[in-house]
Amino acid sequence: MKVVLSYSGGLDTSAILVLLRKEYGAEVVTVTVDVGQEGELEGVEYRAYELGSVKHYTIDAKEEFAREYAFRAVKADALYEGKYPLGTALARPLIAKKVAEVAKKEGADAVAHGCTGKGNDQVRFDLSLKAYLPPDIKILAPVRELRLTRKDSIELLKRHGYDVPATHKKFSIDENLWSRSIEGGVLDDPFTEPPEEVFEWTNPPDKAPDKPLYLTIGFEEGVPKTINGKSMGAAELVSFLNKVVGEHGFGRIDLIESRYIGLKSREVYEAPAALTLIEAHKDLERLVLTPKELRFKSIVDTMWADLVYQGHWVDPLRGHLEKVIDSMNKYVTGEVRVKVHKGSMAVVGRRSPYSLYSKELIDYNEGWYPSPKEAEGFINLSGFYALTALKARELD
Ligand code: ARG
Repeated sequence: MKVVLSYSGGLDTSAILVLLRKEYGAEVVTVTVDVGQEGELEGVEYRAYELGSVKHYTIDAKEEFAREYAFRAVKADALYEGKYPLGTALARPLIAKKVAEVAKKEGADAVAHGCTGKGNDQVRFDLSLKAYLPPDIKILAPVRELRLTRKDSIELLKRHGYDVPATHKKFSIDENLWSRSIEGGVLDDPFTEPPEEVFEWTNPPDKAPDKPLYLTIGFEEGVPKTINGKSMGAAELVSFLNKVVGEHGFGRIDLIESRYIGLKSREVYEAPAALTLIEAHKDLERLVLTPKELRFKSIVDTMWADLVYQGHWVDPLRGHLEKVIDSMNKYVTGEVRVKVHKGSMAVVGRRSPYSLYSKELIDYNEGWYPSPKEAEGFINLSGFYALTALKARELD
């Protein structure tokens, strides 16, 4: 049996690699998809071979991830439950796609992943893999199927004479260009403040530089293209923002999150670039879209974020929602100025060729003004239902 394993280098997928080889006699090919999980990538290939992988693939998908996944999320102002920019949720379908490609190329009998039975990721992986794989390639989820605990994984590695990866003992971390997620340990008490040691991308706000950081972000049809006038590739732009905005202490999220699987969890994230880009993008939308467009878009955006969070990336509904989202983003072109200072970020300026704002019109002393008649007629008609209802209800 030949199995292609989606391999992160962490404890669980390392244990699965050994389990499949030693206890199921499988030949294991490992795949690590680079979506910007910098620290976690070091030594992964070495580790895979050490644990007996017959062939290891490291696939650089950073640019694709930033352009086709993260920037779609910007166009959709995607924040799950108003706070989480969906880093993990966005990366899973792309990882599944890459792993499926390798499985087909390698003529594998099965694909394996390391998701537990308690999280969202199992839905995201299983569903995407089912969509991308022919039905004769099986999907294995050993951690879920065998109810492997972290203790079991450590035990299993030791039993076969392997040492245990030293990384991240206290917390469960998932990292990519769009967000860094930290779960478990002391964070499992939702009343406990996250200790400073969980943060890696952001400075503590009180230790951030005293001088505020000003950035001008340029958007074209809803897509971030420039910073301070300089064109940047998608992955490069996101990494740059993570670094400079994170230095100024902005980008931390502490969220009680509704998992798809029916459990509330306490999640801590760092996402300096994602939060900045989404806030800037939203601001530009407020400048160029009509109020009716804005109201409708927020409904569509929420549906998009829920769909992606719930692992339904492959659902055809996403394409329909994106038609609306793209159509409205046609006018989201312009520049947004943001100020980042000691843990806070604010939009302080915006401009666009499609702006609906007019300084002359809003000025009390200048330009077009509704005539008294027009204004009175507007108020009478717009308030007519309310006044009629008040009168009708006086009878009660
Ligand atoms: N709760 C987030 C999600 O479902 C992140 C999960 C990431 N996993 C982790 N081990 N930190 O998308």
